[in-house]
Amino acid sequence: MQSLKSYLNDLISRAMAEVTQSDACNANVITSSKPEFGDYQANGVMAEAKRRKTNPRELANQVVAALNSADSPLIEKLEVAGPGFINIFLSDTALLERANLALSEPQQLVPLTASPQRVAVDYSSPNLAKEMHVGHLRGTIIGDAIVRVLERLGHTVIRQNHVGDWGTQFGMLITYMQEVVGDTKGLPNALSDLEAFYRNAKDRFDSDPEFAERSRHNVVRLQSGDPEYLKVWEQFIDESLKHCEAVYDLLNVTLTREDLDAESRYNDDLKVIVEDLKAADLLTDSDGAMCVFLPEFKGKDGEPLPLIIQKTDGGYLYSTTDLAAVRLRRSWDVQRSLYVVDARQSLHFQQVFAVAKAARFAGDELSLEHVSYGTMMGKDGRPFKTRSGDTVKLAELLEEAVSRAYQLVSEKNQDLDEAQKQTIAQRVGIGAVKYADLSKNRTSDYIFDWSTMLSFEGNTAPYLLYAYARIKSILRKEPDITSSVMGDLNHVEERDLVIKILQLAEIVEAVGKDCYPNQLCNYLFELSGLFMRFYENCPILKAESAVKETRLAICAITANTLHQGLDLLGIETLEQM
Ligand code: ARG
Repeated sequence: MQSLKSYLNDLISRAMAEVTQSDACNANVITSSKPEFGDYQANGVMAEAKRRKTNPRELANQVVAALNSADSPLIEKLEVAGPGFINIFLSDTALLERANLALSEPQQLVPLTASPQRVAVDYSSPNLAKEMHVGHLRGTIIGDAIVRVLERLGHTVIRQNHVGDWGTQFGMLITYMQEVVGDTKGLPNALSDLEAFYRNAKDRFDSDPEFAERSRHNVVRLQSGDPEYLKVWEQFIDESLKHCEAVYDLLNVTLTREDLDAESRYNDDLKVIVEDLKAADLLTDSDGAMCVFLPEFKGKDGEPLPLIIQKTDGGYLYSTTDLAAVRLRRSWDVQRSLYVVDARQSLHFQQVFAVAKAARFAGDELSLEHVSYGTMMGKDGRPFKTRSGDTVKLAELLEEAVSRAYQLVSEKNQDLDEAQKQTIAQRVGIGAVKYADLSKNRTSDYIFDWSTMLSFEGNTAPYLLYAYARIKSILRKEPDITSSVMGDLNHVEERDLVIKILQLAEIVEAVGKDCYPNQLCNYLFELSGLFMRFYENCPILKAESAVKETRLAICAITANTLHQGLDLLGIETLEQM
């Protein structure tokens, strides 16, 4: 079952091609802005008429005539409007047929893509020297939503958690470990608060030149592969990853150890990258540093902007690793390689992508895309911090979310037992934090605000979770009607809701293509709004039998749609709240 939008787009594009005797036309079908313009409208005729220097209304009439004679079951009626828009009114019978199919086979709500791709998605990617902090929230959950959407559409996704595990900081940490822990048995304890451990190591590093010297020495030994140092380092990394995994678990994020793409993995490739760039004639020695200058990158004053590949002291950089990573990912035959990373790294990625293409580390067939996101701000409009100005640990933020939700749930519903309250608090709290983030356009900064995200009104997780639980409670009142079908759509509220449900497919397609999960959030919010209107205007349990059956079926499929949509966002629903 192709989505309504792409089905109509194909159908009308073909009719346009037939009328104009050309091979490629784009009907440019969109959902209509007003009910009087139909359910969908095709806007592509005007552009096509302009190209052929013909009258757009006339062309629109010809296209409509061609479509009418072809008699598509989905279309009830077509109208030409304004300068050459085609308004499309869909047939109730066809809509019901689709909806009933989706009711019996919910997977059909989102059809698999006709052109599956292999896609690498780099996301979360924290540095392992410290614990994950709030700055890692966005990349982790936006990335995970995109991954879920792509997989649902039938693409093959290769997750890449490009953790930072290889910089100079690790020399410092190893040195400190040797100093305080001595033997490795005490390690988990010492690292239970990774943040404090890091701070103490840093204090030692900053205050004791001898310690700093030993640390620098230790990085070199580590990076040259000294087995003893590697062992200590591995233990540190393992502990640090356990911290991340606890957060992933709490966040219901799908990353596992298998998805690691640690920077250390590229250690041996870095000198090869330098040699290959040299061979491609792209490398320039600039005061002893090896750089690539591409003409399209200029600084503020117009001076050429380098991408530094190797420092004067021989050390490699973040960019060098990323170039090696592009090459590895290409070798997996992926068509897209996505980087879900903070917008402040935009220039870095533009440069890395351009150099990768110039050096042929990636060919034209590979689309390299920086899926960037803005910063999470505090109420004061500055990057979110604790009162004392420290970064906030992600784990602590999430614990606070759950405890705030617990408070809320306990006030709202006192009949629940303790276990229920905890489950609800967990899902509502985590769902609220995730949804508040995912529902914003990812490219903008946003203000983190507990009271809005935990509100039961507006475009929030509690509102959607509550809508879902409410539908489920209606369905529980009629446990015998499990296999109902939708017979007729007699009310506009029923029809609007059913069309909306059938539009999940095109929204998910759009998210897979453009990577804006907020489109899916908006959709779910609108869907819930339409459900509420239906619920207020169309009595369900009191309706007589056939109508009741249709309405219960509409409830069931609405619940299913909400569930699927929230699941794609990585948000778990509740049967009862
Ligand atoms: N570890 C980096 C950071 O914390 C992010 C890595 C993003 N991915 C990449 N391929 N560069 O800033």
